[in-house]
Amino acid sequence: MRPRMASDSQRPEAAPAGNARPRRVLVLGATGTIGQATTLALVARGHEVVCFVRARAGVRGRLAPADNAQRLAGASLRVGNLTDPESWMRDAFRGEAFDGVVSCLASRTGAPKDAWAVDHGVHQLALAASKAAGVPHFVLLSAICVQKPVLAFQQAKLAFEQELIASGLRWSIVRPTAFFKSLSGQVERLRRGKAFLVFGDGRLTACKPISDGDLAEYLADCLDNTARHDRVLPIGGPGEAITPRQQGERLFELLGRPPRFQQVSPAFLDAIIGVLTVAGRIVPALADKAELARIGRYYATESMLVLDQATGRYDAAATPSTGSDTLFDYYARLMNGAALPERGDHAVF
Ligand SMILES: NC(=O)c1ccc[n+]([C@@H]2O[C@H](COP(=O)([O-])OP(=O)(O)OC[C@H]3O[C@@H](n4cnc5c(N)ncnc54)[C@H](OP(=O)(O)O)[C@@H]3O)[C@@H](O)[C@H]2O)c1
Repeated sequence: MRPRMASDSQRPEAAPAGNARPRRVLVLGATGTIGQATTLALVARGHEVVCFVRARAGVRGRLAPADNAQRLAGASLRVGNLTDPESWMRDAFRGEAFDGVVSCLASRTGAPKDAWAVDHGVHQLALAASKAAGVPHFVLLSAICVQKPVLAFQQAKLAFEQELIASGLRWSIVRPTAFFKSLSGQVERLRRGKAFLVFGDGRLTACKPISDGDLAEYLADCLDNTARHDRVLPIGGPGEAITPRQQGERLFELLGRPPRFQQVSPAFLDAIIGVLTVAGRIVPALADKAELARIGRYYATESMLVLDQATGRYDAAATPSTGSDTLFDYYARLMNGAALPERGDHAVF
């Protein structure tokens, strides 16, 4: 059965619940980009927020519990092992009642083994523990790209989405478009005088970028906004869809330089994928690199917009928008030093 999509009914978005009642919420993935923003949004609404985190968190384990306490001010932290079923009851739930679980947890690398272990496996443990603890509502941060599941991490996410839908719990599955951090990787290249890299002519794809803060508010609203209950929710940021070429043009405008693009053919990535796939049969680490190249190719050729399954075309008009932060304002803040670029484990450029 196809899950109900928010866009199916063209229902107007209800206003964020200003009178949301205080809830007790367990947040997963709170040490990540969206998890941190969501934790702070929930705290700001007056909810009692508990974050279940690992002892060493952040990109390559750079964050100790004291760092997390500072970054997640207002929430309580519980440290445990999310891959251990016993740790969920002992360290996370501790026999206490929660009104909801909000998960922004995801594999940091996107490599197949990691994705199945985290996006699917850890979430299965979280769901089983949530049911055992009597949690009524599970809010899941997913990704819009699972609508065309080609890559292992997309299949792992989709498999868990289906288990959540069938779980009997109230659920909200949020599938956002591209994050600002994923569209800012070339700022330093351009500052160093290099060209902006595009696949094809830079107009092969488009997205409606969404800021961390706007997505966090959207996720927090899922608890009280009944229009977001038992729904798959594709969501983008404000304004028109933007192509990579437009991103480059705006960055050059902010730098006060004429735009300069270097075009890369997606066929170049195909060649790399072919070589790494063959080599990966002998050296397993290269198989992971092949998957990362496949991820790069996917984003080089697929838009982060709602896909019309009947026509196979991406549809910007059918992609709902939320919030007020724009990518171009963020670029301006990056350029004047008011915002800092964030790089993850799997930055492509
Ligand atoms: N980037 C985009 O443009 C984009 C667009 C749409 C959707 N998305 C999706 O949005 C989601 C969140 O993205 P994000 O950028 O916020 O992710 P992120 O910064 O990489 O954070 C991932 C979180 O998951 C936790 N985690 C990973 N493996 C774990 C494990 N084994 N045990 C416990 N915790 C673990 C991390 O904890 P540690 O700090 O302990 O590592 C961290 O809190 C992902 O599912 C992604 O696919 C991304």
